[in-house]
Amino acid sequence: KVYDDSREASVAVAEEIAALIRSKQATGETCVLGLATGSTPTKVYDELVRLHREEGLSFGNVVTFNLDEYYPITPDSLQSYVRFMHEHLFDHVDIPVGNMHIPDGTLPADKVAAYCQEYESKIASFGGLDLQILGIGRTGHIGFNEPGSTLQSRTRLITLDHVTKVDAASDFFGEENVSRKAITMGVGTIMDAERVILMAWGEGKAEIVRRTVEGEASHEIPATFLQNHPNATVILDTAAADQL
Ligand code: GLP
Repeated sequence: KVYDDSREASVAVAEEIAALIRSKQATGETCVLGLATGSTPTKVYDELVRLHREEGLSFGNVVTFNLDEYYPITPDSLQSYVRFMHEHLFDHVDIPVGNMHIPDGTLPADKVAAYCQEYESKIASFGGLDLQILGIGRTGHIGFNEPGSTLQSRTRLITLDHVTKVDAASDFFGEENVSRKAITMGVGTIMDAERVILMAWGEGKAEIVRRTVEGEASHEIPATFLQNHPNATVILDTAAADQL
């Protein structure tokens, strides 16, 4: 779906999320959301906060799982996704403490593999993700599933691609400071979500969007695996759709 601009597109995504939260509330169910970070989803979070403040949207029945986190990183670091989520969403809505889950970037190396399995089990314990929102990296990564990530991959520690580190350099005040690794949900974890929305804005994403939508599904561009998801939508502004 192509929108005139990212603001209009983000409002539409927020409305879909709000409708899902409300429909689950109506039946007394928990709404399990898979959340993303980066610049792409910020206007969606702004609109969700507005819906909470002005239209009484409650997050009381919402449980969230974030896609990824740098490793190692402390939660109070400027670049941490824990900090990002609190600043952009969690601190402004009524989501119960304990309902948000973000991969832990502080664990000792020998604890990470078991932790990743627990993250998967926790998602499963809520019956899986109802909706996963995604941005896309210029490498075609979703979450931090860099090229080479298989369709079956699950939550794990990965090594960031060079292109991803270049793109993150300004956040870390220099490429040499960017974390070498990250913990990310796998492609398989994302594919198991009942509904997936991938968003991309701006001309800088136009080429990877074209390869994602029109190229062959392959681990060379992990986002292409979404072509085979039964309920995935790619939401673009006109600039990101320019090469389709
Ligand atoms: C980051 C995140 C991804 C995100 C992507 C794009 O590295 N881990 O989840 O989709 O890069 O970032 P942005 O939205 O800032 O373009």
